[in-house]
Amino acid sequence: MKKTFLTSAMLCACMGAFAQSDMDTFISQLMVKMTLKEKIGQLNLLPAGDITTGAALDTQVGGMIAAGDLGGIFNIKGREKIEALQRIAVENTRLGIPLIVGMDVIHGYETIFPIPLALSCSWDLDAVEQSAHVAAKEASAAGINWTYSPMVDICLDARWGRISEGNGEDPYLGGLIGAAMVRGYQGDYSQPDNIMACVKHYALYGAVEAGRDYNTVDMSHLRMYNQYFPPYKAAAEAGAGSFMSSFNLVDGQHATANRWLLTDVLREQWGFDGFVTTDYASIAEMKQHGFGDLAHNSALALTAGTDMDMCAYGFLSTLEQSVNEGTVSVSDIDLACRRVLEAKYKLGLFQDPYKYCDAKREKAEMYSAANRQVARDIAAETFVLLKNDGVLPLQKKGKIALIGPLANTRDNLTGTWCVAQDPTKYRTLKEGFETALKGKAQLLYAQGSNICRDAEQQAAAEFGKTIARVDDAKAKAEALAIAQQADVIVCAMGECADYSGESSSRADLNLPDVQMELLQALVATGKPVVLLNFAGRPTVMNWESEHVPAIMNVWFGGSETPDAICDVLFGEKSPCGRLTVSMPQHVGQEPLYYNHLNTGRPVAEGAQHYQKYASNYIDVRNDALYPFGYGLTYTTFDYGQLAVEGNGRNYTATVTVTNTGSRAAHEVVQLYIHDVFASIARPVKELKGFERIYLEPGQSKTVSLPIDQSALSYYNINGELVFEPGDFDIMVGPNSANVQKVTISVK
Ligand code: BGC
Repeated sequence: MKKTFLTSAMLCACMGAFAQSDMDTFISQLMVKMTLKEKIGQLNLLPAGDITTGAALDTQVGGMIAAGDLGGIFNIKGREKIEALQRIAVENTRLGIPLIVGMDVIHGYETIFPIPLALSCSWDLDAVEQSAHVAAKEASAAGINWTYSPMVDICLDARWGRISEGNGEDPYLGGLIGAAMVRGYQGDYSQPDNIMACVKHYALYGAVEAGRDYNTVDMSHLRMYNQYFPPYKAAAEAGAGSFMSSFNLVDGQHATANRWLLTDVLREQWGFDGFVTTDYASIAEMKQHGFGDLAHNSALALTAGTDMDMCAYGFLSTLEQSVNEGTVSVSDIDLACRRVLEAKYKLGLFQDPYKYCDAKREKAEMYSAANRQVARDIAAETFVLLKNDGVLPLQKKGKIALIGPLANTRDNLTGTWCVAQDPTKYRTLKEGFETALKGKAQLLYAQGSNICRDAEQQAAAEFGKTIARVDDAKAKAEALAIAQQADVIVCAMGECADYSGESSSRADLNLPDVQMELLQALVATGKPVVLLNFAGRPTVMNWESEHVPAIMNVWFGGSETPDAICDVLFGEKSPCGRLTVSMPQHVGQEPLYYNHLNTGRPVAEGAQHYQKYASNYIDVRNDALYPFGYGLTYTTFDYGQLAVEGNGRNYTATVTVTNTGSRAAHEVVQLYIHDVFASIARPVKELKGFERIYLEPGQSKTVSLPIDQSALSYYNINGELVFEPGDFDIMVGPNSANVQKVTISVK
């Protein structure tokens, strides 16, 4: 069959930055030609390649595309393969409507950036935007025009494996980062390397009970609006083209079929005008939640505001019948179909369905030297120095021992969600050290231990990646032998890549015991030890913080991790990451977050021990081991006196910061507020601004942080922003636990 419609002159204006009226006319004219079956066809999304991100499905996508049964495909890597499927849609269907082609390009395509949690610790919005743009450049050259990112779920519980995919615990910072990612991916859609963002997982997925993936969520509307919604709202307001609904319940209804969430809040309150896809097989999973059969659930989802069905076959197999039975109207289907077609129009696919399949660009962009350099620079910004007794930076001399299960692995340093990565191109940390130390220092290496003692647990966690299983006793003896010869020991330890990510919750946040025993033995040698902590979540590091001279959280820094670590470890760059999550002292404190509400019985400020009839534990203090906003560097900063000036409802907090050490470095000056009395309980502290500054040794800078009415307001139960006059504590400092305070009265 040859396409008959899309040769029309209407195509003229549908590339690049678009005019709404042209788009409306074009789509109306197209939809007039579409049958009900063709419209329903646009609402289905299936995997088309061999990338696995959910239960395996036996899909024959070529035939389904030809039959007009698919609006989009995903999970397929390779321009040529995608182009062939696009050709079927364009040339073998009656109307030749192109496919939207998705992928989980979460933190890079082949050039991998740090996991999102790490990226957020850079507090560098330009870097975040740039990382998304580089990811889009590579993905778009290989046929992808839609990415399932940014993931902006607020998560307060370190047990949840998907905390690695988000931007930490703060709604304000999370919103800024979500918006930056949207800008980085989408631009204004005018360029061939602008792809569509899909904000996920809407909503509240990060609040799964007990940090167990796919578990129940239940929370008040106040908490939704004030703590969980802001990043989704910010990403919608940044113009995100699509949203993905979440797997969980919201107010007892599935997020995918929740009209209040998808229509009243998302579209009506926030003005979102893109389309909504489900997550993987969500409509089918509604049955397990107890909501009826596939036809019922598909109708519920569609009429609630879901436009595309990922993997459940619900829309495809039931909607026509539901129209006949009257549970779904043709106008419901028209609305969803229009939204999907609009996305394709915005992407310029009607003008040129092969816009994203460019062999030359694919060759030039993929894992290019320029992209790698950006990834290396950004990775170095995400490492958080937690402790330094003066060991760091290391000198490139003498004998350096590199020990640990993460030291010689090629496919674990990128972390979770790198479905398009090609680890054969990446280097191991050991190889990075070899290059950095060549001709200057001698490198000694030993694996030292397994990731964990339990082989089955290790295999389960690795999910296709591998770290060689070794005999623990023998490996430890080898490590101790080289440690004895070394001047300094660098430990590459922690979690392997798939200890975090989807379906990777952990109940224990400690370094696995086999690694801990090795670490303790290495520290016992008396040699200086540096711990590089690889992690996709906040981990518990009590013993480490007391006994290991230097600790740097390196998360999963991406494909350029080895070079980036060397840049910081050997002092070419100063560490500049600051935590965007609270690091607990014990898993039993979770969920742990700095911006909590007060209780009626708070513990006395500065209390070191348990207090009867106060809100605390007998066996662990309430505070974090390392608080939100915390991070050291190779210099020190002095904060002058905080001044807050202003009138009406506009104030400025001003402080002069001086680099009092001997190295240039970044500091993140953080502004928090506390609404002292209000009609609803307000958090003890909320981040409302920050500035990232770079100071040479001895240099000072006066930082002015604006505070406007919106920073002093909160959302009421209906989602309206409310300002109440009264006293506000204004706090500024280097992290959430170390601030100066000035109280102002606002009329
Ligand atoms: C995940 C999503 C992802 C989707 C498609 C799901 O299992 O929850 O985050 O975008 O699969 O791969």
